[in-house]
Amino acid sequence: MSPGVKLKVSTLLPVENVNAITLDNEIAWFKKVLQTRFDQYFEREQKNGESVNDIYAVKPPELEFDQSEYSGIVRQFNMGFDERLVLVLALLPHLQPQALDTLLIHNQNLARGFSEFGGWNGKHHSGFLPTCETAVFILAGNDLSRRIRIMPLFQSDHYLSAQGIIKITHTSPGEPFLSASLTLSADYLARFTTGQNQKPDFDVSFPAKHITTELTWSDLVLSPDVMDEVENIIAWLQHSTKIMQHWKLGRNIKPGYRTLFYGPPGTGKTLTATIIGTMTDTDVYRIDLSLVVSKYIGETEKNLGNIFDQAVNKNWILFFDEADALFGKRTQTSSAHDRYANQEVSYLLQRIEDYPGVVILATNLKANIDEAFARRFQSSVHFALPDQEQRLRLWRGMFSDERLLSSDVDLSQLAEKYTLSGGAITNAVRYAAIQAIRMQRYVFVQSDLVKGIMRELSKEGRTQ
Ligand SMILES: Nc1ncnc2c1ncn2[C@@H]1O[C@H](COP(=O)(O)OP(=O)(O)OP(=O)(O)O)[C@@H](O)[C@H]1O
Ligand SMILES: [Mg+2]
Repeated sequence: MSPGVKLKVSTLLPVENVNAITLDNEIAWFKKVLQTRFDQYFEREQKNGESVNDIYAVKPPELEFDQSEYSGIVRQFNMGFDERLVLVLALLPHLQPQALDTLLIHNQNLARGFSEFGGWNGKHHSGFLPTCETAVFILAGNDLSRRIRIMPLFQSDHYLSAQGIIKITHTSPGEPFLSASLTLSADYLARFTTGQNQKPDFDVSFPAKHITTELTWSDLVLSPDVMDEVENIIAWLQHSTKIMQHWKLGRNIKPGYRTLFYGPPGTGKTLTATIIGTMTDTDVYRIDLSLVVSKYIGETEKNLGNIFDQAVNKNWILFFDEADALFGKRTQTSSAHDRYANQEVSYLLQRIEDYPGVVILATNLKANIDEAFARRFQSSVHFALPDQEQRLRLWRGMFSDERLLSSDVDLSQLAEKYTLSGGAITNAVRYAAIQAIRMQRYVFVQSDLVKGIMRELSKEGRTQ
């Protein structure tokens, strides 16, 4: 333990406190390292006469028995001095921005900041924001061989970036590699502090929505062959590691599983994708491609890239809805819109092909999906309209409490007479429920259900 870095001991405390104590110790260590680098760089005398000028002599806190999320991750990746320092540096603007103020000093001779400290300017943040150069300055000073040894930390295949812990962003082409900004991903920031796995909100830079359902496997009404395909996906999610690694098939088989769900509206495509997530304890994110195409034109690469970057490390199921918006047959006309779409299609296809998890594309019309794309899917699953027996199961599934049905309700008759999708049945039931409440009847009656059905049929331009 180096002088000046005192460890506080964590006992049984709330998770935020445990994390705060660990981070506090880690920041204290960082400050000591930074001070040592400054002393060495500016050849300052150590106050107490000691000549500890090697930053590596300032030992980081011992984390072996520490319970914090931060320590867990340090142990998981077996992080050394350099990696920890990069991590704390990326954390500081969020936790203690003033700790980096020393890096704002001006070079007296040049009347400007020190180039060797790196750093970038934020729009509203007035403190120092680190770049990779900043980390290299602290770790290597003006030692060129150390500088070269440290550079791989910032490569995209280093686990710090590959696992989505830090983000290295190059803003201007042609600028030196190390002038890229160094930030911590929102996800790891949340884990280190509140200890929670953050679920990103839908916004412009993240056009995906986390979808969940209270329905379960037993609520799904699907034909046996669709069920079989769904079970294949579940088996893949549960056992792909075994297949790819233990059986060494990873050499021949592309990672990931890509599947196309097609069929009329309301037949359970979205619901099935969501339940696959529940069954395998995996988060499902829905990306509406029609929205991506209309709203984010030109921005698609960036925004979809953002989704894939986050998804990769968490094994999310990516559910692309309205897939024909982007994967539709390419038309002869070549408007600006189409030209964009083509670039974006090839980008998205590449990312989908490289994605190691499950990707589900959904569409109402399989015929609209370009053959070349369809060939790349591992399976394509047809969600047909339910037959009479399935419709009866759907109707029955709606009313968990039979007492809610008045004695005149005949579900078998409804199932036999009206060919409706599961989605249309839920809408008809919702309509009948509203009527029951408005009439203060508190039970479903056949005539309301039939009225609800009629409304659904007329939406589709049918009478029966
Ligand atoms: N096969 C099914 N089994 C059980 N419930 C179903 C089924 N199909 C539809 N439903 C009910 O209808 C609702 C709507 O279905 P869902 O949104 O999954 O349809 P979809 O095929 O994704 O439709 P769209 O093509 O319009 O997106 C579900 O939330 C569920 O309540
Ligand atoms: Mg859907």
